[in-house]
Amino acid sequence: MARPKAAFVCSDCGAEHGKWQGQCGACGQWNTLREVVVAKTQRGAAVGYAGGAARAAKLRDIDSSEDARIPSKFGELDRVLGGGFVPGAVVLMGGDPGAGKSTLLLQVSVALAQQARVLYVSGEESLQQIAARAERLGTPPEDLTVVSETAVERVSELVQVERPHLVVIDSIQVMHVQSSDSLPGSVTQVRESAAQLVRLAKQTGVVVVLVGHVTKEGNLAGPRVLEHMIDCLVMLEAPPGSRYRTLRGQKNRFGAVNELGVFAMTDAGMKEVSNPSAIFLQRPEQMAPGSVVTVTWEGTRPLLVEIQALVDDVQGAHPKRVAIGLDAQRLAMHLAVLHRHCGVSLADQDVFVNVVGGVRIGETGADLALLAATLSSFRNRALPRSLAVFGELGLTGEVRPVANGQDRLREAGKHGFTCAILPHANRPRRAIAGIEAIPVGSLGQALTAIAELPER
Ligand code: TYD
Ligand code: MG
Repeated sequence: MARPKAAFVCSDCGAEHGKWQGQCGACGQWNTLREVVVAKTQRGAAVGYAGGAARAAKLRDIDSSEDARIPSKFGELDRVLGGGFVPGAVVLMGGDPGAGKSTLLLQVSVALAQQARVLYVSGEESLQQIAARAERLGTPPEDLTVVSETAVERVSELVQVERPHLVVIDSIQVMHVQSSDSLPGSVTQVRESAAQLVRLAKQTGVVVVLVGHVTKEGNLAGPRVLEHMIDCLVMLEAPPGSRYRTLRGQKNRFGAVNELGVFAMTDAGMKEVSNPSAIFLQRPEQMAPGSVVTVTWEGTRPLLVEIQALVDDVQGAHPKRVAIGLDAQRLAMHLAVLHRHCGVSLADQDVFVNVVGGVRIGETGADLALLAATLSSFRNRALPRSLAVFGELGLTGEVRPVANGQDRLREAGKHGFTCAILPHANRPRRAIAGIEAIPVGSLGQALTAIAELPER
């Protein structure tokens, strides 16, 4: 008989190693590797749809009609999920403690329970606490079944009995499998609990939503071991000090990723923000130097955000390039383009840029705005309040088109912007009422266009 195989799993990030070492090679933490014995049963039972003996079939003979999705009653959540919950899918909602995961999922559960069977499993709060929270949310939880439980076996039994359409597990980190003897909260327990719940979802068709807390390093505890098991990973992010929450899809087997949903945390729970452009744009009447609005593209819709820059005499041995909400490497690259192609050197200046409202921009459409804000601060000259700027910048100083240029322009017009600097290739064929498009083909042209804007 083969010896049980030993593996060493990092209790912080969940990475697996073949032998013990003092530092986890994946996340760099010290003394986090714990020995786990990989049970024999676990090896054979890979997580997947295989319920019984596998049977091969022709792909064309398989009924591919997707079961009807279950809308969550929250448009912003549905957007991120790609149109609602898919029966049998496992969704992992990650986020910092206090982001509002429990609040949002309780609201979803209460709303859905009016039409479907929902089981809300809390391992972190007592039933009284859940009831008190539901009361505070102002939604009478008429038909919601709640249970305070941490044993996965009990949850499985309940699912077999209650036959819910949706199960919320708050949180996966406190769940444990009774038959496993590793410590509750350990990576092994989290992984085994998740594996059993995934199997349950695939066998019964119930939607399973797992809540996962994020560690201080920004990793979901045991994420790498969970990520390949689950169908969707959505992250609820709470920018420090902001009441707004963004929900971002990071993995989705049934839809697009990188959709962004926006919520606001209020006294009565999470409220959807269906017009997010408006909230990130609260600017003073009198514009200060270093600020400009760009139109980025998030998933399937445009989003107006303000980019701020501060340029100041260098304060150390090396000039600082700090970017929050944007890629600092891109900032450094664009400053090089600015120097090489337009002769503006910021070598003796510190440059800080920030995207207001805690938004993170992961696309290139903000390139031009980033430099516009930087130069505005450097020259201490405010840009007009009614100006929007977007476009990608190439290394040869050319301004490249971005996807959905017309929609971006229209979004800016809708929010009262009267003028936009944009890539030449994105110029509108027909004028868009209320907004003047200033197409530019190079960074030099963009700087000229900005210089010629009326000062206000
Ligand atoms: P919670 O949902 O418990 O966060 P998580 O489950 O992600 O850890 O949210 C807790 C925070 O939200 C807490 O700081 C209080 C705040 N909150 C409100 O502002 N309004 C509300 O109606 C509720 C229920 C919570
Ligand atoms: Mg919680």
